[in-house]
Amino acid sequence: MSGERIADVDAVPAESSLLFTVEDRESGEEREAVLVDTDDGVRAWFNYCQHWRDVNLDTGDGAVVRDGELVCKRHGATFECDSGECTFGPCEGAVLDELGIRRADGGVFVDDDGYAFDRLGEAENDEDDGPQSTESRIGF
Ligand code: FES
Repeated sequence: MSGERIADVDAVPAESSLLFTVEDRESGEEREAVLVDTDDGVRAWFNYCQHWRDVNLDTGDGAVVRDGELVCKRHGATFECDSGECTFGPCEGAVLDELGIRRADGGVFVDDDGYAFDRLGEAENDEDDGPQSTESRIGF
């Protein structure tokens, strides 16, 4: 059963993101995700843009969060922190891929049977590229 503690709820910044890495239980591959604070509590999104999926939203120093939206630094797409929906930019209408989490005892836990918490911070196999190839880029 999943349920590894990622971080304390209080560790999730209000105007940025907290980057962490999970391991795909089936393939063993590492994937990055970010925790963001919303009015409805903390949410977790996989750390790549829906425009070019090889572009990370958080490159290790916290993603830009402005007015409750995650901002992709590459072409400026914005994604609502609470729904993951892109409200502006080349992938408008697309939705970030979500990682299941739950909150308990002041902490945030992975709550997705497909993934296991690995560590805070970047994936080792990331090399500044997201988990998807450039073939998954949506035309500009
Ligand atoms: S890669 Fe994110 S908006 Fe283009």
